[in-house]
Amino acid sequence: MNTKTTVISQAELDAQFAWCDKIAAYWQQEGRTPTAYVETYGCQQNEADSEKLRGYLTQSGYSIVQEAEGADVVVMNTCAIREHAEQRVFGNLGALTHTKRRHPAQKIFLCGCMAGETKVSDRIKHSYPHVDGVFSTHHLWQFPEILYNVLTKKKRQFYVVDEPGSIAEGIPQVRDSQLKAWVSIMYGCNNFCTYCIVPYVRGRERSRQPEDILRECRELIENGAKDITLLGQNVNSYGKDLPGGMDFADLLSAIAQIPGEFLIRFMTSHPRDAGKKLFDTMAKYPKIAKQLHLPFQSGSTRVLKAMNRHYDREKYLEAVNYAKSVMPELVLTSDVIVGFPGETEEEFEETISLIQEVHYDSLFTFIFSPRTGTPAASMEDPTPKEEKNRRFDKLCAVQNAISEEIHEGYVGKTMRCLVDGKDKDMLTARTEGGRLVRFAGCDSLIGTFQNLTITGSTTWSLSGILADAN
Ligand code: SAH
Ligand code: SF4
Ligand code: F3S
Repeated sequence: MNTKTTVISQAELDAQFAWCDKIAAYWQQEGRTPTAYVETYGCQQNEADSEKLRGYLTQSGYSIVQEAEGADVVVMNTCAIREHAEQRVFGNLGALTHTKRRHPAQKIFLCGCMAGETKVSDRIKHSYPHVDGVFSTHHLWQFPEILYNVLTKKKRQFYVVDEPGSIAEGIPQVRDSQLKAWVSIMYGCNNFCTYCIVPYVRGRERSRQPEDILRECRELIENGAKDITLLGQNVNSYGKDLPGGMDFADLLSAIAQIPGEFLIRFMTSHPRDAGKKLFDTMAKYPKIAKQLHLPFQSGSTRVLKAMNRHYDREKYLEAVNYAKSVMPELVLTSDVIVGFPGETEEEFEETISLIQEVHYDSLFTFIFSPRTGTPAASMEDPTPKEEKNRRFDKLCAVQNAISEEIHEGYVGKTMRCLVDGKDKDMLTARTEGGRLVRFAGCDSLIGTFQNLTITGSTTWSLSGILADAN
């Protein structure tokens, strides 16, 4: 496996900033402020990438707008995780023929994980002539150059060369929220779970330097961030490719010691190397949220092996039980796949029994979706779709009952929550474990931590009152 990481040099990045200046000059000549719309699909990693796309666009003189209609630039930052996600993008891409007909100068780009699939870039090349540029995640740092070429060369641009991946520091970011921030600590994935396309479209694991991450966190906290989520496909692998021996737990404790009032959380942890050191570190620091997203995928050891997950049911349960023992208040969430090729009824029941044993606060539930190029896509899969749907519905019903029960258990408790926004006439807040609480209060509380007493619950959310109002 080629694991060589290319670090994008300052000179290469400066060249991109020079393209930004040229784009800004181009629009100055046109005599107006151009507009850009970025649509994001998929996971937080894509959300974080979109903040960089908006950063580059802003630096190139664009004003960011909230819809494709009339925008000079439209960027679709896509997700390839399931067939359904891709179909949605192709549908929405088709609809852009109309926005472009009404505004022929509109430039349309497709990037993100789908752009890393040859079959997708070929399809765009041949069947979607209104798309002006396609670039994979490896080429995001070159977006200004791609945009400038599209504007001036009148030729479609495809930057889709498959690479192990690079790290670019210093791309400007326009963040969605001042309060809650994403910080990517590493990129790519080496795990090659047999169902998953991510390692093919996002390249090899590569960790950012700890100093760069710490600097970014410090700046965010100084600028008012109160909730920072560290991102990576498998954060527990952090540092394995760096000299110096710093691992993820070490990084977490370094961030937890930055002065200020804030919480750090992270996703995603792979159970394969989520061990005692990580959980002890989480337990030790009040600034590390007692929340863990630990995808188990299946409760059957046979299926886990077929998925190439490198842990079994027992090892998973051992890790969870240890985490709960050192953090009794831990909020646990997970991902699960129903209907992996060859999953039997008994194996599905093992998934159900694991859910009942662990008692997750909530679950992200998926039906297996074959992804071209992954080993699982060519595995024999005799289970009919209807049967998979039945299993999926059963699993959701089991989990919903558990979520409801756990939420009922919150009633009467007082918890420190971060007030993060407004929903109609109520304020919204998040518990340390990430549960949503609605309550009445004045807008000036947004951005502060408040003690809330929980007064009601549903499967999905909680309601409460300010503890001082008791
Ligand atoms: N790196 C993370 C997961 C990223 S993808 C991890 O390993 O935990 C998010 C979730 O999508 C996965 O956890 C898995 O449950 C689901 N998923 C990935 N590929 C899938 C596929 N082909 N079909 C159905 N679900 C899939
Ligand atoms: Fe996909 Fe597995 Fe990597 Fe997660 S760890 S991104 S599921 S290959
Ligand atoms: Fe989707 Fe890519 Fe994330 S495939 S889930 S956007 S890493």
